Amino acid sequence: MTDKRGKLVVVGTGLRTVGHMTVEAISWIRMADRVVYVVGDPVAEDMIAALNEKSESLQTLYSSSTKRIDTYNAMVERVLSLVREGLTVCAVFYGHPGVFVYPSHEAVKQARAEGFSAVMLPGISAEDCLFADVGFDPATTGCSSYEATDYLFNQRPTDPASALVLWQIGILGNEGYSPMGRYETPLMPLLIAKLGRFFAPTHHVAVYEAAVQFGCRPRISWIRISGLATVELSAASTLYIPPGAPTRPDAQVHAQAVAMGIPIGGD
Ligand SMILES: C[S@@+](CC[C@H](N)C(=O)[O-])C[C@H]1O[C@@H](n2cnc3c(N)ncnc32)[C@H](O)[C@@H]1O
Repeated sequence: MTDKRGKLVVVGTGLRTVGHMTVEAISWIRMADRVVYVVGDPVAEDMIAALNEKSESLQTLYSSSTKRIDTYNAMVERVLSLVREGLTVCAVFYGHPGVFVYPSHEAVKQARAEGFSAVMLPGISAEDCLFADVGFDPATTGCSSYEATDYLFNQRPTDPASALVLWQIGILGNEGYSPMGRYETPLMPLLIAKLGRFFAPTHHVAVYEAAVQFGCRPRISWIRISGLATVELSAASTLYIPPGAPTRPDAQVHAQAVAMGIPIGGD
């Protein structure tokens, strides 16, 4: 044990480490006593190691025989054990560290509960890249964003006049870990049927994979919803479903606004 109080700073690499990592994140990685990281690509690992030699991967905690939630809890425990030693720990996750990342939020929560200082800094997420690459502005029609398995098993609101983003489409229904990043998705027909309640089966959707290396191009595969049964997916796939119906104005609010003498577009 050192006599220094521990501190946790959680940062993201963005999707493309070379280019997306913020100056703030780089500074914390440099300054930390210890760096732990969960990043998918070797370029990011090299960059982190070059910034701070006292860095270790938590990726090694994954195994095909362990449920993902157990691996995540082991990651939290490793981070907390270093903070309890009184160290300033920088935990690095790819993308935005707080977007679809259970161990980052849990580590911050637990560190604060134990009286340590803990902060999370924002990063560039896959959805941020999607908006840029696919050319969709969520301000136009709105956009809902769900984890694919959560969306399938729960009654999440779906507005066919808005865009829908389903994360983790390539690991639909999986709780485990595949070292090769390829998963069986036997529940896909159920998801296709559920999406069919809101969108035509011929509606075109995009399987999206942002480029993770500088100068590379994203994968954007436009297919019909029914094509989800056969299209190749990976753990890095995100599904983008553009609006499939016109926006329905709220007639009641329009009438109320008009009665107030406030002009509304089209009225
Ligand atoms: C555990 S979440 C991590 C998200 C990450 N923290 C972020 O900010 O984007 C993993 C999911 O993010 C999405 N994702 C990760 N890498 C991606 C990429 N290169 N292109 C598109 N989506 C990606 C996929 O939906 C994937 O299943």
